[in-house]
Amino acid sequence: MDNQWLDTIESASSLDELETIRVNILGKKGSLTLEFAKMKDIANEDKKEFAKNLNEKKGAVTKSLEAKKTILMAIALEAQLKEDKIDVTAFSAKIQSGAFHPVQDTMDRVITYFQNLNFSVEEGPLVEDDFHNFEALNLPAYHPARDMQDTFYTKDNKVLRTHTSPVQIRTMMSQKPPIRMIAPGTVFRKDFDITHTPMFSQVEGLVVDELGTVSFANLKHVMIEFLQHMFGEVEVRFRPSFFPFTEPSSEVDISCVFCEGKGCRVCSHTGWLEVLGCGIVDENVFTAVGYKNVSGYAFGLGIERFAMLIHKIGDLRSLFESDIKLLGQFR
Ligand code: PHE
Repeated sequence: MDNQWLDTIESASSLDELETIRVNILGKKGSLTLEFAKMKDIANEDKKEFAKNLNEKKGAVTKSLEAKKTILMAIALEAQLKEDKIDVTAFSAKIQSGAFHPVQDTMDRVITYFQNLNFSVEEGPLVEDDFHNFEALNLPAYHPARDMQDTFYTKDNKVLRTHTSPVQIRTMMSQKPPIRMIAPGTVFRKDFDITHTPMFSQVEGLVVDELGTVSFANLKHVMIEFLQHMFGEVEVRFRPSFFPFTEPSSEVDISCVFCEGKGCRVCSHTGWLEVLGCGIVDENVFTAVGYKNVSGYAFGLGIERFAMLIHKIGDLRSLFESDIKLLGQFR
């Protein structure tokens, strides 16, 4: 009995056809299954030989079925890949993209600007002690200038830092001059109206080098370049001011971005907007951190105020309200 089944299997041209052939051979009433049924009519002495022969054929059939199946599956897959096409031009549901919050975006721009000038980025704790937030910054206890910043105190006599200036102190106490750093971060003051929120963000800057190498002229140049980078072609003016940790000190104004200096409600008809504080580091600050024979300048600015002026946002509080309508405009 030659194995005619193998030819049938070989002739299958699809997986369905192969399955039909398999059932026809090995199914309950399959031709090979029926061969086994003939066993009972075989003489006893021939049974062994008969069974061996059939089993060999069954083995060959099973193997051949497997092999053919593998081949036909590969062919079917190939055909399917040819047929399935993705239409990349088809319309789909509109996806709304997100955007950086204007405060974050402004913060990133400020940080990147100073990083490009080789300033390092330093950090400090939000809950500060009196020494770093006040004392070392030439603000001893009972000094009236402490009133400039309405402070939140904790039960254990610490403060929520009222400015990023304590990071100056921490950096100077842990590093040697020269120093060229900015400290971006959150600060807290007891204040709440259309231009003040109890929590806001500042960026502090500090440059310290050998005595006589850091001047007010350097500070002025860096501030003017920086402000024109952030606000475009604005005019910049320095007004004498007071900070306990800098002497001399200055507040810096830009020409009003709303009326271009002509005078409007936002600039209280002065044509100018105050945007930062700065000055030459007071000698007492260097003494507090143990620095000798150095000179330096420092500056500090409020990020929300910058964001408001850049994007012409009227109410500072709206920057903290997560209003999708407002934020959607910055996409
Ligand atoms: N720390 C000051 C403030 O918060 C800002 C400032 C920083 C001024 C550094 C001068 C120098 O008001």
